[in-house]
Amino acid sequence: MNVLIVGNGGREHALAWKISQSARVKRVFVAPGNAGTALDAENVDISSTDFPRLIKFAQQNDIGLTIVGPELPLTKGIVDAFTEAKLRIFGPRKAAAELEGSKVFCKDLLRHADVPTSDYQVFRNADNATTYLKEREDVPVVVKADGLASGKGVFVCATRAEATEAVKRIGRNKEFGDAGNQIIIEERLDGQEVSVLAITDGRTIVTLPPAQDHKRAYDNDTGPNTGGMGAYSPAPLIDEAMLHLIEEQVLVPTVHAMKRGRRPFKGVLYAGLMMTNQGPKVLEYNVRFGDPECQPILMRLQSDLLDVLEATVDGHLEELEPLRWDPRSAVSVVMASEGYPGTYERGFPIRGLDEAAKIPDVKVFHSGTASVDGQVVTNGGRVLAVTALGSSIGTAKLQAYTAVKCIRWKGAWCRKDISDRALASVNFDN
Ligand SMILES: Nc1ncnc2c1ncn2[C@@H]1O[C@H](COP(=O)(O)OP(=O)(O)O)[C@@H](O)[C@H]1O
Ligand SMILES: [Mg+2]
Repeated sequence: MNVLIVGNGGREHALAWKISQSARVKRVFVAPGNAGTALDAENVDISSTDFPRLIKFAQQNDIGLTIVGPELPLTKGIVDAFTEAKLRIFGPRKAAAELEGSKVFCKDLLRHADVPTSDYQVFRNADNATTYLKEREDVPVVVKADGLASGKGVFVCATRAEATEAVKRIGRNKEFGDAGNQIIIEERLDGQEVSVLAITDGRTIVTLPPAQDHKRAYDNDTGPNTGGMGAYSPAPLIDEAMLHLIEEQVLVPTVHAMKRGRRPFKGVLYAGLMMTNQGPKVLEYNVRFGDPECQPILMRLQSDLLDVLEATVDGHLEELEPLRWDPRSAVSVVMASEGYPGTYERGFPIRGLDEAAKIPDVKVFHSGTASVDGQVVTNGGRVLAVTALGSSIGTAKLQAYTAVKCIRWKGAWCRKDISDRALASVNFDN
């Protein structure tokens, strides 16, 4: 079978790498892909939101399954368009992708389904939100734009003044455009964040091992928010019993509520959770694999990913054998461009990739790279996700950083403490 993967980041490289290992796969294409996907698959120069051209490509190249990486094509209805053209595609339809596309839709669904989440209020304009802030106690809140804002539309506020400023930026200045047509003000939660990803065909839920990512730019979780500077799996914070509780209190009621609401959910359901003193609470849902959580999780998957995704699309997940996982740990370290998450330059030649590839149990996934005259150059803020397996989180970390040391370009940097949080929580437990 030929497979098409839509997207161009580290997540899509990991998907392409894993899918290529399936004995049933003939050719793997990535649209538009990057310099890394060109090594493990074949790149196709079509944007991830150009549905007519993607459909034409799928029809002309005998594509048996299309896999969608990023949220934007999903919320724009790529799955509906492919399905109408009688093409098989993995991911939720537009109506189900609202779970990520509208934070108001998500919160309302959680409330109706009795899934633990923070208290919240929704406002249709800045005036009402500002009045509400003025009239209530001056407590920490989180202010969120309703729609997709590339991770920039959320403000974690310590004071009323900060919250009022956030409301102004979202609602009055319209910094996020129409994504700010509705504003959520919610209770601020305390605790450690974890990601629990599951694959579901709308009825059966297959939970993947938990992962934790590092969103802040600098060591010790300081500095500005980013797309993610690294991740690891498993997450020692979540044991079997806790994972079971999360399935029962969070994932199952969500999937049922989507079905009842006539938006059956097929695809990856990614719960962003805060582990509070009152138990896990949902911060948000994503409707696709996380980047970089996808990289360590897929490094550990031993089953054929194609079997899993096909069973989901065809609604046979119930019949699938339990997934097999590498018992080892995986750690993924993101190497970034100088200036990221602010402005940065592109086009710097990357050296040492061949050397890094020789380190055992390491895979270098490309996030923002391009190939220019046969030379791999930087082409994004997050450039590489250097991922390693090891007998423990500590060993995997060491191995990943050994590979990181081989790689250089002008301005390259990374966090030095990826996965230390896991080690800290293990020590704490002992
Ligand atoms: N209620 C909350 N309490 C504390 N922190 C929060 C809350 N909601 C969001 N955050 C923080 O803000 C980050 C981004 O919020 P999230 O809802 O995941 O939006 P997005 O990923 O779309 O930007 C979270 O990862 C978390 O660190
Ligand atoms: Mg998030």
